[in-house]
Amino acid sequence: MTVSTTTPQKQPGSITDQFKPTLLHPIDYNKKIEEEGSEFYPKAKYPHYLPTWNPQQKYPALEPFEYYEHGRDADPTLPEILGAGVHRTDLTPSMGSEISGVQLSSLSNAGKDQLALFVAQRKVVAFRNQDFAELPIQEALDFCKYFGRLNIHPTTGSPKGYPEVHIVHVGAGHDAVKKVFTTRNSSMSWHSDVSFELQPAGTTFMYSLEMPESGGDTVFSDNVEAYNRLSASFQQRLHGLRVMHSGKTLTDASIQRNGVVRKEPVSNAHPLVRTHPATGEKALFISSPTYANQILGLKKEESDTLLKFLYDLIANSLDLQVRIKWTDKTVVVWDNRLTSHAATFDWANGKRRHLARITPEAEQPYETPFAEPHGNNSTEIDL
Ligand SMILES: [Fe+2]
Repeated sequence: MTVSTTTPQKQPGSITDQFKPTLLHPIDYNKKIEEEGSEFYPKAKYPHYLPTWNPQQKYPALEPFEYYEHGRDADPTLPEILGAGVHRTDLTPSMGSEISGVQLSSLSNAGKDQLALFVAQRKVVAFRNQDFAELPIQEALDFCKYFGRLNIHPTTGSPKGYPEVHIVHVGAGHDAVKKVFTTRNSSMSWHSDVSFELQPAGTTFMYSLEMPESGGDTVFSDNVEAYNRLSASFQQRLHGLRVMHSGKTLTDASIQRNGVVRKEPVSNAHPLVRTHPATGEKALFISSPTYANQILGLKKEESDTLLKFLYDLIANSLDLQVRIKWTDKTVVVWDNRLTSHAATFDWANGKRRHLARITPEAEQPYETPFAEPHGNNSTEIDL
């Protein structure tokens, strides 16, 4: 038997060895590594997008606002989105597209209307080779606020001076991936962003700043298709039901981590089936049980069972999902009214993952009455 002896390589070590958080950070990160780099890690590519948490920042509860659905005004031929020189790849026939050859930041207002409609139709669209991350942050915000009032998240970090930017960031050297699996078997948590708000998220923008070489994809479910998969009598039963969505778990968790609470938690009841104002499509509107865990008027076991069935339907049905791979210069636009999504914590532990989300709010969710589906409802599948 041959025994090889090698000199042990110096290892970067965990961030907890190197950094004692002194600020109110829900997620600690090594400021020195992120801003200057280290022997093992390069500095962050977009340091002005590093998250900050200011405990003095407090915002009042949101007041209702009049939402305008721009998708209704769109030229349905989508000339600015799908014009000459644009390359489109559909990821599945019913949802998910990848587009290159159009620069979002150059769209006219008519083009933005088309974007709202196209994203409502395709549910999630990855736009490649975008300049979004290079724009001054205020310009990115100005672009997105065309689609609705910009949400300020109650607990997450944002670039200094730009509270409307929601930063998703795991710093280099951080044990985030490893940590998740010390208490969980899977990292998947399906949700619709800020569903607890009176007027939750609509057309939503997220752009990559710095990603690991592989892993860290985001998975989206088509909740219109999930609704359409249900039998007519089951669909009918869901109409009229309302689910209580609450932000309290989120803010409680932040307090526990010594984090910030920028807005007091709110709870709002929303229809379980909601209708999209531009397309008229009906979708299941559900979120992780962390945020939405009670159907009004049902007893606890009834509510738990029904919500678990619907949650499992979107979480387990690969045939109504798409997986989006983040690459440099990607902007993913999705309609939070028609989809749920989940991050995948499967990248190499210790690698930096850094993205920014801007979240326009939309209408207060509403439903239109149940209508008998047309066509063959056969359950036979011919393989
Ligand atoms: Fe999310």
